[in-house]
Amino acid sequence: MITLENVCFDYPLGTNGTTQLRIDNDQYLPGLWKFNERMHAYGACTSVQINHAGASATNLRLNGLQPVSASNIPSKMGTNCPRPLTVPEINQIIVKYAEAADRAKRAGFDCVEIHAGHSYLLDQFLSPHYNHRTDQYGGSVENRARFAKKVLQAVRQAVGPRFPISVRFSADEFVDDGNSLTDTLNLLQYFGEPADIFNVSAGINDNLQYQIDKMSLSDGWRSYQAAAVK
Ligand SMILES: Cc1cc2nc3c(=O)[nH]c(=O)nc-3n(C[C@H](O)[C@H](O)[C@H](O)COP(=O)(O)O)c2cc1C
Repeated sequence: MITLENVCFDYPLGTNGTTQLRIDNDQYLPGLWKFNERMHAYGACTSVQINHAGASATNLRLNGLQPVSASNIPSKMGTNCPRPLTVPEINQIIVKYAEAADRAKRAGFDCVEIHAGHSYLLDQFLSPHYNHRTDQYGGSVENRARFAKKVLQAVRQAVGPRFPISVRFSADEFVDDGNSLTDTLNLLQYFGEPADIFNVSAGINDNLQYQIDKMSLSDGWRSYQAAAVK
């Protein structure tokens, strides 16, 4: 199975690249359908990773919007300061996740992946490093997992019971005030249930070497985290 990574479903607020693929409108269906037909002809299965960049959005540069997040904490030191999402805005984004998942299914993908790691929007809620909220979306493990849980539930509702859902997350964030592997195992009890596949990654933007696997790390260095999650 080959995954198209980091595809935008909330433009322009959730985008983080000028050449990023989009899945926020039916106008993209013909192109995505053609891609899937070609991949399937060679025997491959396809997955699409739908993602909201949150504080990592590059829209300040593109159109002057302020990025959004759980709190007013940049996703990387020295980058744009985001504003906290309101609850109605969170609800709108959940709907957009579900619409994009349905679109992914209609475009012929075999799986949809929700990105909840790597300092992107859902991780900005899961991680105490970024989430300083005091409402029902911040504080306790249950509260920090609430956004990801609602997203996965809405996506399941949209794609039905027999379509695979993957969720990718940073199992150990490797920062003192972020999620440890143990913390993530706790969080998963709250948000993991609707997913069929746990795609176990690691790290946040301040330690990119664990997110994109610097060459000096040994092959399979983080497999102990996948084993713990399994
Ligand atoms: C330029 C670059 C872009 C990446 N983009 C994404 C992404 O959009 N989504 C994601 O989940 N991981 C992303 N990653 C992380 C890769 O998926 C990660 O490096 C991969 O799990 C490591 O597999 P490998 O050991 O086969 O390279 C990116 C990595 C690099 C180097």
